[in-house]
Amino acid sequence: MISKYEFGNTVITDCVVEKLEASSGDIKFGFVEHKEPFCWTYKMDDKTKIFGLGEAVRGMDKRGFVYESWCSDVPGQHEGTKSMYGAHNFLIFKEKVENFTFGIFFDTASKVIFDLGFEKTNIVNVSVADTGVNVYIITPEKNRGKESALVNITRQFRRIIGQSYIPPFWGFGFQQSRWGYKTEADVKEVLKKHIENKLPIDSICLDIDYMDSYKDFSIDENKFKNLGALSKELLNDGVRLIPIIDAGVKLEDGYSVYEEGRENNYFCKKLDEKTDYVAGVWPGRSCFPDFLRSDVREWFGKKYQKLTDNGIEGFWNDMNEPAMFYSDESLSEALEQFETFKGQNLDIQSFFEFTKVSGSTFNQMKDYKRFCNKVTFANGEEKYIRHDKIHNLFGGKMTQAASEGLDKLLPDHRTLLYSRASCIGAHRYGGIWTGDNNARWNHLEQEIKMLPGLNMCGFLYSGADIGGFSELAGEDLMIRWMGFGVFTPLMRNHAAWDAREKELYKFEKVDVFRSILQLRYSLLPYIYSEFVKASVKNEMFIRPLGFDFEEDERAMEIQDQLMIGDGIMLAPVYKQNEYGRTVYFPENMTKVVWKNGKFECSKVRKGDLYVKMPLDSVVFFVRNKKAVPLFEPCNNSSSVKTDSYKLAGNGKSYELYEDDGFTKDIHLEGRIRNLSRR
Ligand code: GLC
Repeated sequence: MISKYEFGNTVITDCVVEKLEASSGDIKFGFVEHKEPFCWTYKMDDKTKIFGLGEAVRGMDKRGFVYESWCSDVPGQHEGTKSMYGAHNFLIFKEKVENFTFGIFFDTASKVIFDLGFEKTNIVNVSVADTGVNVYIITPEKNRGKESALVNITRQFRRIIGQSYIPPFWGFGFQQSRWGYKTEADVKEVLKKHIENKLPIDSICLDIDYMDSYKDFSIDENKFKNLGALSKELLNDGVRLIPIIDAGVKLEDGYSVYEEGRENNYFCKKLDEKTDYVAGVWPGRSCFPDFLRSDVREWFGKKYQKLTDNGIEGFWNDMNEPAMFYSDESLSEALEQFETFKGQNLDIQSFFEFTKVSGSTFNQMKDYKRFCNKVTFANGEEKYIRHDKIHNLFGGKMTQAASEGLDKLLPDHRTLLYSRASCIGAHRYGGIWTGDNNARWNHLEQEIKMLPGLNMCGFLYSGADIGGFSELAGEDLMIRWMGFGVFTPLMRNHAAWDAREKELYKFEKVDVFRSILQLRYSLLPYIYSEFVKASVKNEMFIRPLGFDFEEDERAMEIQDQLMIGDGIMLAPVYKQNEYGRTVYFPENMTKVVWKNGKFECSKVRKGDLYVKMPLDSVVFFVRNKKAVPLFEPCNNSSSVKTDSYKLAGNGKSYELYEDDGFTKDIHLEGRIRNLSRR
């Protein structure tokens, strides 16, 4: 059951697609302290658990910290980071008494601060900075059969926000990426080495190096002489290119994308509502398409044709929080301040002041308050509004622009699309990756704990940069992270230009990486099938244990094991020099050990057990009475064959969803094949 409450005149966010009548009574749980600005408080008991918030650090249980919904460019995020790249305002409060378990969604374009028992252990305080909010309270349905309250509430939420994006089948294959593939030859080398080393691969990402002077929808023809020919050549080996597109458009006379944007007033404006707002990103001074406007989205979406004409069907959208190194204003302020330090004897105080100046231009709130976007309000009014009041919608609206454009450019094919910034609503148009992490063990742990929240909020197609974007990935970290990446829908090895070169063939234990990738391809039809079912049925592909075993208090406590699809339980190793771990089994299960491209099964009993997990193996578990099909490993998604398979687990059969991997007409009827034990 869902109740909607309206507070203030909201900006239309398009997060919710189902029309619901607003209720006039008092909010069902907690209480509204202020209407404008909105502030809601709720008293928890000692055992209340909080799930959700999508892309956020710390545990699966979010209790005990202050989070801020504010799309941020936060490289090297850590436990103290309040905001990530996405803003996802959905939570479930799990109370001991079932009737009190409820979901709550704050539908707003504004910044939201969630104090989840931080200032006071049992008090939740949610405050919305601006522009009004629609609050949705979701309680479990009575007639839900055996479904847990957590799964049921999530399903209802997902129904009102609309079906999650489904990538093409090839988007589930392994992606190799690096900021630093500078030429056609670099790209060909990656493929050559993968083939030589028998390392399966489906795509290679192009970072900003392929562009001419970092200009969107341009190609540096000195380095990429013929992108169309290159993408054709790679496709002969079943491999596709995935170029990056950034939010900022280089300000340069004669550059057609900039000229069109300027002439048609498509860019975000300064507060005078007339002058284009200018800020620095990769190409230097840039303007930002006002993605909140449908005409601007349509224009920008069409621009992808430059690349689709070259045979490209996959993209990643970046820097769309939007990230800004400086604005014209903040840069000149900083330069003026630097002047004042000239000739001074910098003592401790003044030296600290000095160091602050250089950081004073990067992604600053004062800059987000210096420009505006044109939006429509719930009362029909259309007007400019200061950017900081709608900041969280910007990146998601860029994803929408790309998705709608690609839909028209490639009417018969689903395309691959993922973004860095996001808001709920964007999950209908694309996936996300979780931004610039580091080659650290605790960033692997962070991903494990973050994915269930993202799934609750509809971002089923997600994953982190495997092995970390920055810093130096050791071989052991890479092996463990790849072993975990086997189970994430987006599986991409990406790195920064100054990070260690971590293409898999550059490590010593290439055979271990080969075996891991063979597992990914052996499971690919299962991953795809479970993913599509989860999207169609508004379910989560990745869940905390407590969602499946709600009655089991131990399961509810577990924060480092995951359920993957219908049949798999995972207990990843995420600590260095550990070659096994204690696993909690809420029921009897089958242990599967994958090594050298083959697997062996054995039984494990309900309860706690220390399970050995050597570095050369990937270990996972199959739920009681379930079966997981493993197919012949192969080199890429186009050579996957589903006629011969083996079932792991003690279940009798598995219902495999299959289609051509591209169709936009997604439905389960008539597409399910029963795979039974033979
Ligand atoms: C951003 C992205 C990163 C990319 C880099 C260069 O930092 O998050 O993935 O490699 O920009 O484009």
